[in-house]
Amino acid sequence: MSAGNRPQPMTARPGARLHGTAQVPGDKSVSHRALILGALAVGETRIDGLLEGQDVLDTAEAMRAFGATVHRDAPGRWRVHGVGVGGFAEPGRVIDCGNSGTGVRLIMGAMATTPIAATFTGDASLVKRPMARVTDPLSLFGAQTLGRTGGRLPMTVLGARDPVPVRYALPVPSAQVKSAVLLAGLNAPGRTVVIEREATRDHSERMLRGFGAEVTVEDGAEGRVIALTGQPELRPQQLSVPRDPSSGAFPVCAALIAEGSEVRVPGVGLNPTRAGLFDTLREMGADLTFENAREEGGEPVADLVARFSPDLKGVEVPPARAASMIDEYPVLAAVAACAEGRTVMRGVGELRVKESDRIDAMAEGLRACGVTVEEGPDWWIVHGRGAGGVPGGAQVASRLDHRIAMSFLVLGLAARAPITVDDAAPIVTSFPDFLPLMQGLGAVITPEQKAA
Ligand code: S3P
Repeated sequence: MSAGNRPQPMTARPGARLHGTAQVPGDKSVSHRALILGALAVGETRIDGLLEGQDVLDTAEAMRAFGATVHRDAPGRWRVHGVGVGGFAEPGRVIDCGNSGTGVRLIMGAMATTPIAATFTGDASLVKRPMARVTDPLSLFGAQTLGRTGGRLPMTVLGARDPVPVRYALPVPSAQVKSAVLLAGLNAPGRTVVIEREATRDHSERMLRGFGAEVTVEDGAEGRVIALTGQPELRPQQLSVPRDPSSGAFPVCAALIAEGSEVRVPGVGLNPTRAGLFDTLREMGADLTFENAREEGGEPVADLVARFSPDLKGVEVPPARAASMIDEYPVLAAVAACAEGRTVMRGVGELRVKESDRIDAMAEGLRACGVTVEEGPDWWIVHGRGAGGVPGGAQVASRLDHRIAMSFLVLGLAARAPITVDDAAPIVTSFPDFLPLMQGLGAVITPEQKAA
């Protein structure tokens, strides 16, 4: 399904204190991978805490189309009966990945070394996003692809009949590309090697090992060298999905900027390749603590406690941290708008090829809210309003991007006047319960009359 059929305007109003516990949903990255690896294992994988956002539901539907049996037993509790590595059937319909770059890129990888054809498409956001970054390495395995000009969806992939293993140095820091190559490597004989200069999220490596694949990771002169031995038999797993730090970021940031707030977000995944936002917030002077640090489902988790922080200061975010918080720059920009001084974000060109051009989308919306933003191809600077406060009182465009929508709704809770997002419908892709969860904390966020 493609999200965003009918726009849903939504307004956040300032003044309320947020209090309570926010049970954020399962991690989106881990959820996609659990379904895909479950579909490639022999036998039944059980998943607990699966995110039931539209992106993940689209991946579940895709796995059915490739021949896996996928059942939902209860909220968050799913079973996948896999077909084994190389066992994907040719889908009888077009695979619609909706809004999800992760879904389409990982699934293309997973089928690229099986001799079947599949055609992929997505919503108005996804069909604009670059796919050459995955089809380039997949062609090295022997897969063929035919898409629109510039490597855009819709696109047909013809999986390699006699795949060869690949050694590939990532030209962009992308866990999606890394994961597509590793998933393709599963059905190639011998060792497939991916080299990344900067560490990106490593859920694929962790989960592949959990399913019984041989994956080694070494730090060398070229960067992180990840090697996978092809053609393993993947053993079905019992998986527990940690709560998504990228979703937890919204109630956390809201509590930091909305006067008098205190919010607890339990069981959030704190994989070091994902947790960069929380380090940055602390550097800004956020009152943010971690309690009950533990391990769940092979990932480190903790309970986050965020309290209103009146003295936030702008910071320079180290570019080396970018990959570990790539999805959190929009909400960081909302916090930065409330802080005193400049927040400088460099080395973030990847933000321009997400669900929207996130630098442009945030800069445009922040300016409409009375905040000064400077930007370049791979950098931007938010000039915090500090004690003067963010004027707000604007309508901003979410551009089919869930994180842009949620970031401005968070900012609206702390601005001097309400902020309306023209379309909050895309939030369903990653955080379907965002609205009731935020309202449950006391936030005043309300849907507007739908546009005709
Ligand atoms: C993801 C990787 C990131 C991130 C996306 C999820 C993943 O994209 O932005 O939301 O699950 O692998 P890139 O790997 O392209 O940076």
